[in-house]
Amino acid sequence: MNNYLQRAEKILARINELAAISEDENCITRTFGTKSCIEVDEKVSAWMKEAGLETRMDNIGNVRGKLLSKYPQAKTFVIASHLDTVVNAGKFDGPLGVIMGLDLIEQLVRTKTEMPFNIELIAFSDEEGVRFHTTYLGSKVVAGCFDESLLDKKDESGFTLKEAIQSMQKDPACLYDAISSDNWLGYFEIHIEQGPVLFEKNLPVAVVTGIAGQRRIEITFKGMAGHAGTVPMNMRNDALCGAAEFISETEKIARTNKDKIVATIGKLSITNAASNVIPGEVICSLDVRSADEDELSSAYKKIQGCCEAICIKRNLGYEWNLVQSSEPVNCNQQLTELLAQSIAEANLQVVKLVSGAGHDAVPVSKVAAVCMLFVRCYKGISHNPLEDVEIKDIASAIEVSDNFIMNLIKKHNQQ
Ligand code: HGY
Ligand code: MN
Ligand code: MN
Repeated sequence: MNNYLQRAEKILARINELAAISEDENCITRTFGTKSCIEVDEKVSAWMKEAGLETRMDNIGNVRGKLLSKYPQAKTFVIASHLDTVVNAGKFDGPLGVIMGLDLIEQLVRTKTEMPFNIELIAFSDEEGVRFHTTYLGSKVVAGCFDESLLDKKDESGFTLKEAIQSMQKDPACLYDAISSDNWLGYFEIHIEQGPVLFEKNLPVAVVTGIAGQRRIEITFKGMAGHAGTVPMNMRNDALCGAAEFISETEKIARTNKDKIVATIGKLSITNAASNVIPGEVICSLDVRSADEDELSSAYKKIQGCCEAICIKRNLGYEWNLVQSSEPVNCNQQLTELLAQSIAEANLQVVKLVSGAGHDAVPVSKVAAVCMLFVRCYKGISHNPLEDVEIKDIASAIEVSDNFIMNLIKKHNQQ
């Protein structure tokens, strides 16, 4: 078995170890600041220490390990991804990038490669934003774009983000010790594609040229609760029927622009739900994305207008709360070309893709040059326990990433 496959075996074994850690015994779920997140942090931190990295956890719960260059003024190149998950997740979304990053650094240590720059591996604490409904908490702090008002955001049980950070024995007043991006050389994230293109093309990896922009909204439809048996149909203010019409109209808007936008309602709840009560209040999520900012903002306005029209027609009130907004991101041209060259050097076809999924590279792109490598996943399935990656694709991604790091070192030494 070649060295890449051996390394891939170890990566897969570690990913499986992390996958066994969850806040739900029936599926993989790890949300910010919970015991399961702390447990995976401790495991990854121990692996970083074993690899000889200078290891710490910052105040937003990112686990960070640094391989130091012998040059004291050396800048830092960052390899990162996240350890938190969605609910009922797969095991690769996030951990693949962290554990492959660790392998790349272990290889540099094993081969006693002389490092002209530091390499820092960061395992971000919250990319998905499941617990506090706002994403990129870990990478926003590191990129210096964390909005302190988020500390007051509450989870389903009323805990604030501030309390969650304190429960991790971390100090929410000192989040800004995390920023070290001023001397970053660049940022590299390996991630599963979470889409079907590589599977269709039967290719193991792709280079990412950009990341779609997102709007995440929480909408509350306000009607009038009533008796299911006594209120005539034409006298109802049924919040759920209003939400249902909105959901179906939103799907129509997205389908008519299907090559440019996607729109998803992933969460819906009826307040004080009972089978014999006309729903008086319904809360739903809305996630709209596009690789083109103009398309995204016009779809956003069209969908908001549709919500307004339905509520006027049905005599419903509504609250429209924009929870998260990120513009489309372009990956750094030079790093992307170097990554493409590294794919070609591994005798693999170079494919360039835009990511429909968001990644920690989005906030980081505000302060550093970012690049990403996609790895094929089974039928493009993700955010689903069926998420799977073949060991040979991990091996190909290691070969490409090894080439990339060595090309970075070569380029740096030529400067
Ligand atoms: O939702 C996303 O795009 C990513 O998985 N956080
Ligand atoms: Mn992810
Ligand atoms: Mn995800």
